[in-house]
Amino acid sequence: MTTKTGSGLSDLKQKMESREAAIGIIGMGYVGLPLALLFSGERFRVTGFDIETGKVNTLNGGGSYIVRILPEEIREAQKAGFRATTDYAEIARMDAVIICVPTPLNEYHEPDLSYVTETVKSIAPYIHDDQLIVLESTTYPGTTEEVVVPLLEAGNPNGLKVARTADERGVHVVFSPEREDPGNETVARHDIPKVVGGCGPEATELAAAMYGTIFHRVVPVSGPSVAEMTKLLENIYRCVNIALVNELKQLTMRMGIDIHEVIDAAKTKPFGFQAFYPGPGLGGHCIPIDPFYLSWKAQKYDFRTRFIELAGEVNTAMPYFVIEQIGGALNERSKSIKGSKILVLGLAYKRDIDDLRESPSLPILEMLRDKGALVAYNDPYFPKVGHGRHYDLNMTNTPLDNLGQYDAVVIVTDHTSYDYRAIVEQSQLVVDSRNATKGIDSPKIVRC
Ligand SMILES: NC(=O)c1ccc[n+]([C@@H]2O[C@H](COP(=O)([O-])OP(=O)(O)OC[C@H]3O[C@@H](n4cnc5c(N)ncnc54)[C@H](O)[C@@H]3O)[C@@H](O)[C@H]2O)c1
Repeated sequence: MTTKTGSGLSDLKQKMESREAAIGIIGMGYVGLPLALLFSGERFRVTGFDIETGKVNTLNGGGSYIVRILPEEIREAQKAGFRATTDYAEIARMDAVIICVPTPLNEYHEPDLSYVTETVKSIAPYIHDDQLIVLESTTYPGTTEEVVVPLLEAGNPNGLKVARTADERGVHVVFSPEREDPGNETVARHDIPKVVGGCGPEATELAAAMYGTIFHRVVPVSGPSVAEMTKLLENIYRCVNIALVNELKQLTMRMGIDIHEVIDAAKTKPFGFQAFYPGPGLGGHCIPIDPFYLSWKAQKYDFRTRFIELAGEVNTAMPYFVIEQIGGALNERSKSIKGSKILVLGLAYKRDIDDLRESPSLPILEMLRDKGALVAYNDPYFPKVGHGRHYDLNMTNTPLDNLGQYDAVVIVTDHTSYDYRAIVEQSQLVVDSRNATKGIDSPKIVRC
């Protein structure tokens, strides 16, 4: 490792604070693109990197492929110097590089870090002294130190090392979890505190200087593992609490008690209770996946994360529970799933977003089809749905008219654009897995 030649670190920090730093963001998806726009909004020169040429071309043409990001926002960012590229050689020009690539599970429910490792291998030849590299992709504690750092050092032809003390020169490496909550308009992005944990205090300080320009509060922690674990704790907390209400819903349904009324009453308690809501199952790229990154890592310590496994079991069973309820509701009307015309309302994993990754609508559609139903769907965000890692549907959006033709309409996603009263009026039977019909009194509704 070379020794520090002087002001490299303070120069970089000063460049961050004066917004002169060139920032590269890798992965122009749901996390990376909004982050690029935040930095552009602060007049940083931002370069977006992605392996998908289509995304890069759309962005450079001033367009957007994420519904809640308007093309005008991309064009505004372009005025501040934003552009996109597939060329990793441009990493060499960056003062800071932020990695926001996917971290899914593989078919055995184990962490698939291939997107992270491929990215790190691709950038390693172009990294340089006094550059900041931040991993934002959610992952298990230890990833930054055990996977990212060795790959960066091994892949650099100049023998560049990670700087860990003020006396060392090299590249600065940090983990900083993303806390994006798509569709949540209640908290502005810059009001969400940003946790940063670097491989050394200088790295943390640099990242704090950079993120301090776009977030009102930065929370430094002692190292990358603490930052990695913080993100997992947050998501496991949600996963476990959602599982709890999903299980209690099944009990209260048998008892003839409305779980939503119970939750509404419980949340009037001003301390010690946070409301979570039951539904047809978990979705998105975080809550159904991230907890299992920790379960996998725990095995190395001969430890079983039983809360995570139990929550996973309860939440994974929810789409099956919805199918059971549809079957029961049709049975009451002397019908079966087989041969029934069924419309699924909403594909997105939660309301008012255009993301169907891991959405419970997908297994619900597939199970209905496999059981012989004639299935259609409506979702304003998805004109068609093809196939993905865990589904193969090839369906197109059905207009929301002539609802009386369906034996059942199943609410899987409670988009706010739907007129639920009109839907109930026009349908023969509505199976509601989201409490979207709250306040509507009709024998046609089966809530589950
Ligand atoms: N979506 C969320 O709400 C959310 C919230 C918090 C954390 N996260 C985490 O952030 C990370 C990214 O999630 P996302 O939702 O933005 O994913 P995404 O799939 O929307 O975007 C990832 C992007 O990375 C690109 N990519 C993949 N491999 C690449 C490579 N080698 N080089 C360059 N680009 C590459 C993809 O083409 C895609 O555009 C994940 O770890 C996720 O768990 C997501």
